Amino acid sequence: MSNSTADPQCCGTMPVPMLDVNRQNEPLRAEIDAAIADVCRSGAFVHGPACRELESAMADYCGSKHAVGCASGSDALLLSLMALDVGPGDEVIIPSFTFFATAGAVWRLGAKPVFADILPETFNIDPTDVARKISPATKAIIPVHLFGQAVDMQGLTAVAGELPIVEDAAQAIGAEYQGQRSGSLGKLGCFSFYPTKNLGGFGDGGMITTDDQQLADRLRILRDHGQHPRYHHHVVGVNSRLDTLQAAVLNVKIRHLDASAAGRKHNAMRYFEEFNRIGLHDALGIPGEAEHCQSAWNQYTIRVPDGRRDELQSHLAAQKIGSAVYYPVPLHLQECFSELGYEPGSLPHTEKAAEEVLSLPIYAELSSAEQDCVVQAIAEVFGIAYLADAADCAA
Ligand SMILES: Cc1ncc(COP(=O)(O)O)c(C=O)c1O
Repeated sequence: MSNSTADPQCCGTMPVPMLDVNRQNEPLRAEIDAAIADVCRSGAFVHGPACRELESAMADYCGSKHAVGCASGSDALLLSLMALDVGPGDEVIIPSFTFFATAGAVWRLGAKPVFADILPETFNIDPTDVARKISPATKAIIPVHLFGQAVDMQGLTAVAGELPIVEDAAQAIGAEYQGQRSGSLGKLGCFSFYPTKNLGGFGDGGMITTDDQQLADRLRILRDHGQHPRYHHHVVGVNSRLDTLQAAVLNVKIRHLDASAAGRKHNAMRYFEEFNRIGLHDALGIPGEAEHCQSAWNQYTIRVPDGRRDELQSHLAAQKIGSAVYYPVPLHLQECFSELGYEPGSLPHTEKAAEEVLSLPIYAELSSAEQDCVVQAIAEVFGIAYLADAADCAA
């Protein structure tokens, strides 16, 4: 580590975007263009060969026997619950500190989301609180591997017993728990290919992984209006297809996923070292990897206590540095769920996290100079002089 200060001429003038998907996609343009051209030439825009290729690549990547493509991560959750026959009268236990889709899928099927609190260290669902909330009506549990870090699956499976676990792995492709990848840790695993995800397409897309042949067969029928064979409907499904064009793009990108994951991890470790070095480790809650976990680092989410989060975010914005709050309003306090009767204070760790979290740029293509500017801007708010590697404005 050198002792030159992060270049003030550079920091503050050089924008540091929260995410720049073009930096990831541009180096792959020739490969992606060729893959898209192949689909255009074939004319097989729906359920084409690229879809089956991606399903097979995803099953291999996640260590699952089967993978079923669908139109989005939200649909992956919906279809998984449909395959488990979740419906009116059923309860599904989920975290409240997550993206809306986790709860939306439960609600859309007429079932009741039952919100469990999180563990403050990992932001992930607390198995002890899940145990408290299991009732005779509980039909499934959806743990969310938030920000790329796997849930305490050992703790969760111990309390779940026979209840099926549907992993919401939308943010956690490649994340590992006890050496096993997300998507292979529960009964079903749900993935999103939304462009900001670690494996992001050029639009919407999703995938469900499972080791259960019967569930996989059911999912293939449900995603196609419930027809099997064609024009014969024994169940009512939905139209949730993964476009062949998206699959073609993702087949290219999945080959580069490990390299991109290594870049994210490198940046996470570098933040850790820098925040530690300047003594901000205690003032900020710095994320780490929990026991048995290898995070996919979809987000690098710090905690800013003492009501200073918004001030810090404004300071970053003034320095043209992107950041984001995932998520400012916990789901149990959303207006659309008011009839469930949750009061403020009912999930204290979730509510505290919503007040404190701030996600910083973490993508693999983030340069060291950009990262130094992020750290410098944060150090300024806490009145700390930051000595960084020589910042290279052109990086
Ligand atoms: C935790 C979580 N679940 C589900 C989804 C839904 O995925 P999609 O946007 O592909 O529908 C997302 C995407 O943002 C997510 O972050």
